[in-house]
Amino acid sequence: MSRSAHPAGPRHADVLTEGHYAAPPADLNVLDEKVWARTVSRNDDGAVTVGGIEVTRLAEEFGTPAYFLDESDFRARCRAWADAFGPGADVFYAGKAFLSRAVVRWLKEEGLNLDVCSGGELTTALDAGMPAERIAFHGNNKTVAEIERAVQVGVGRIVLDSFQEIVRVSHIAQRLGKRQRVQIRVTVGVEAHTHEFIATAHEDQKFGIALAGGQAAEAVRRALTLDGIELIGIHSHIGSQIFDMAGFEVSARRVVQLLAEVRDEHGVELPEIDLGGGLGIAYTSDDDPREPHEIAKALGDIVTRECEAAGLATPRISVEPGRAIVGPTAFTLYEVGTIKHLEGLRTYVSVDGGMSDNIRTALYDAEYSVALVSRRSDAEPMLVRVVGKHCESGDIVVKDAFLPSDLAPGDLIAVPATGAYCRSMASNYNHALRPPVVAVRDGEAREIVRRETEEDLLRLDVG
Ligand code: LLP
Repeated sequence: MSRSAHPAGPRHADVLTEGHYAAPPADLNVLDEKVWARTVSRNDDGAVTVGGIEVTRLAEEFGTPAYFLDESDFRARCRAWADAFGPGADVFYAGKAFLSRAVVRWLKEEGLNLDVCSGGELTTALDAGMPAERIAFHGNNKTVAEIERAVQVGVGRIVLDSFQEIVRVSHIAQRLGKRQRVQIRVTVGVEAHTHEFIATAHEDQKFGIALAGGQAAEAVRRALTLDGIELIGIHSHIGSQIFDMAGFEVSARRVVQLLAEVRDEHGVELPEIDLGGGLGIAYTSDDDPREPHEIAKALGDIVTRECEAAGLATPRISVEPGRAIVGPTAFTLYEVGTIKHLEGLRTYVSVDGGMSDNIRTALYDAEYSVALVSRRSDAEPMLVRVVGKHCESGDIVVKDAFLPSDLAPGDLIAVPATGAYCRSMASNYNHALRPPVVAVRDGEAREIVRRETEEDLLRLDVG
């Protein structure tokens, strides 16, 4: 929405702001279900509840800042993805979005597989009992130790990301007396419409092997001749927080073209393709994400059509959603500390967290929404910037949003859709203690990742 569409009325409505902002909603007490986890609602007393528990009670028990994750929503989203793709396809949850042992158990129970991209994620997965054959191992620079471990435990697939790695995995597997199933990650050369840092299918970046110039075909040639590895398919991940399915269509088409070339050259039909993750979620009311069944249908149709045209049997499809599963299921709860009204400029609301628990606003210019959740308010909307407590002016959590003008220190506000890439990218900047992740379900709340303590910080500082 343009600035000119901004209505008069709210405090500092004439403020010049770099970000774009929507007009205030008719009623700030209403929670847009698009951006909030499914069991979140406001009760008759005006407090917001999740899983049937009031946030005020959660704050008393677990403190702030904290992430609250709606477990039943997480499980429902897993099932929606699994059901949408059906038994003929595989859904791998991308652990980089957020991973803990509880999450691994939920994935296992709900029938999902898991994509890991580091030794640490692999350890978490195995420790929580994810069968190795349901794990895919990714990364553009896996260490020898990571590859050895992955091959040793028998991960279902390693996604090869470079020419060196094809040879490396082959050697390691032979040395360990194993035959490792692998896919080759290709870059299909599409520009996904998302932030530059999270777009991964154009050629000038560090991931994958380009289809262009026959490089991917050469990688296949080598993988097919080397011992110790079994090439089961081609992988493509075009980027993250994508709404437009066109990029996936191009990607699927180009990957199928490669399968046809491989068939023509080697007489081999590779049985699998992985189209990666990247499906966008709603961070604000302006975002309109696709449902898993729409995505499954769009991808299934295009792969089937392209394969028919190329005379190929339709390969088994896999996808790797991370954000689309966990993102919407959690919110971050903060306590308001100070409020500064800079006359004619802007109102800053400072909270007890910031860029250490949500780096996405600073890093990707991400948009978020925010609501007063400890009580109802019918005060006029006020345009604010929600900032953290770090020693940096770029420490912004929500660039522009409306909160009630009677907001006061001690109020609790919550930022929805922080389940993905917030705790997993959290830092100890300024020696902040990383917040806990609290799973809430059917009136019960429990920490699945506890809050860091000062002892934790000092334990690493060996003097
Ligand atoms: N598969 C591969 C190979 C990936 O690299 C990624 C994400 C995914 C799947 C999952 O993508 P998702 O469905 O979650 O979008 N830190 C950034 C996102 C980086 C994504 C990296 N790779 C952010 O906060 O937006």
